[in-house]
Amino acid sequence: HADQPLKGLNVLVTAGPTQEPLDPVRYLTNHSTGKMGYALAAAARDMGAHVTLVSGPVSLEAPEGVDVVDVTTARDMFAAVSERFDATDVTVMAAAVGDFRAETASPQKIKKHGRTTLTLELVSNPDILAWAGEHKRDDGSQVLCGFAMETEHLVENAAKKLAEKHCDMLVANNLRDPGAGFATDTNVVTILTPPDDVEHDHSIADIERIGQMPKTDLARLILGRL
Ligand code: C5P
Repeated sequence: HADQPLKGLNVLVTAGPTQEPLDPVRYLTNHSTGKMGYALAAAARDMGAHVTLVSGPVSLEAPEGVDVVDVTTARDMFAAVSERFDATDVTVMAAAVGDFRAETASPQKIKKHGRTTLTLELVSNPDILAWAGEHKRDDGSQVLCGFAMETEHLVENAAKKLAEKHCDMLVANNLRDPGAGFATDTNVVTILTPPDDVEHDHSIADIERIGQMPKTDLARLILGRL
């Protein structure tokens, strides 16, 4: 079916932010709303795939016909993805995962007690996309797509991520572009893929710039390319 190009495939999408607790009332997070990931999940469903959406805390409604796995922390998200990864054909990681967490959240509320400064010691979270890149099958039967949000050196940073995390595609967006980034209904992205002809082409990536478009249309475009 031309309109169901993903029929019979398992698609896994990560979306939204993570929340990393500091104490019973506070957490570290970011501005992700989940819009891009939810659009990807709905588009993959419309294209015929069986879709699992691993979602951090967002206020969006679960797309109908999609299996949603709700998670809170980066480690929860890692567990949800890693246990499903082997059964996945196409994985798109659109989540804004917290890079760091408090090693142990305080069991009680952290008090001011006349302090004027407070130092938090953080430890790094697992990189889910990098893990998936390391664990995908060698026969090319699994396709992996990451996202990158940058505030400077967009293409250079994204090309580095494409290679280091063994992705088949990396979708880069610059937070500073009008019509791009968190909470908007549109995005402006650059799509990076490994160079076609690695023997003769010594560039780091093939680069395709996509003008501003609704996240719903962009989701279809990304899945079509994948
Ligand atoms: O390195 P950076 O965080 O910019 O990479 C962004 C990409 O990596 C996104 O696809 C994001 O979902 C993924 N990521 C992840 N686990 C992390 C950090 C990022 O899956 N701990």
